Amino acid sequence: MTRHFLRDDDLTPAEQARLLDLAADLKAMPFARRPLAGPRSVAMVFDKPTLRTQVSFSAGIAELGGFPMLVEGRLAGIGVRESVEDVARVLGRQVAAVVWRTFLQSDLETMAAHAGVPVVNALTDDFHPCQLVADLLTVRERLGGLAGVTVAFVGDAACNMGSSWLLAGTTAGMHVRVSGPSGYLPSAEPGGILQRATDIAAGTGGSVSVVADPVDAVSGADVVVTDTWISMGKEQEEAERVTALTPWSLTSELLATARRDAVVLHCLPAYRGLEIAAEVLEGPQSAVWDEAENRRHAQKAVLAHLLDSAPRAEAPAV
Ligand code: NVA
Repeated sequence: MTRHFLRDDDLTPAEQARLLDLAADLKAMPFARRPLAGPRSVAMVFDKPTLRTQVSFSAGIAELGGFPMLVEGRLAGIGVRESVEDVARVLGRQVAAVVWRTFLQSDLETMAAHAGVPVVNALTDDFHPCQLVADLLTVRERLGGLAGVTVAFVGDAACNMGSSWLLAGTTAGMHVRVSGPSGYLPSAEPGGILQRATDIAAGTGGSVSVVADPVDAVSGADVVVTDTWISMGKEQEEAERVTALTPWSLTSELLATARRDAVVLHCLPAYRGLEIAAEVLEGPQSAVWDEAENRRHAQKAVLAHLLDSAPRAEAPAV
């Protein structure tokens, strides 16, 4: 069966731990695994802006022995010129895997259902699971482990990064606190993200809490995370978002309530003076540049993990 990485909970706790071990190994020995040698191509499709994702996937695919093929979503016109199903079937005949950054999680699921090759979520409106593999790798490097670690996510906790932290953090056995104003919190509906994360935590020894006050959320935390208040696609809401979210800005004063050696993460791009103060982003507790580098190691591990279990067409004999 073809495996995909569409959301953080596509990995069991054991798979996540193995994947993080593999990412650490690949960081130490970048050319140790060559599942794309040949080379086989990986299509990278972007319907939203990208810097880190495009560069880290391109470099990582090359290090795995493959060819990174950039497909510009605007030109391909997925869902406009032709359906997601048709694009999926065409891409799956050409490449070993598809990496897609798009808006709707449901479109990504349609791609996965029809491509016949592994499909990787390079960010949707709902999740950013590749970023979380990099983030967990970074926390492991700084703190030595993940189980029992307390992470506070402050700001737009309803965004893709908040949801991914809830799922990936609890999978790792972490205590995940999220804090944001009303309207910027994850869905508490039955079957929603909070319920899913709570269910995962019940099996891993982690926990989930929604904390109204940012100081209560950050107090004593081992890791403090924030993200832009204006995610891609939300530009029209900028003014109201800045007004609502300003009390959740990650300032030095707020960070001072965390553990003294707490690690600060931000997936970037960062808007200094809005969701994070410049001195926090640039300060000694910030791990953001390691976090950005770790995208490459993390995503190589994701691709190697998926390609290992993918059926592979043998080259015809000549
Ligand atoms: N939440 C942000 C993440 C950027 C990497 C966005 O979706 O724009």
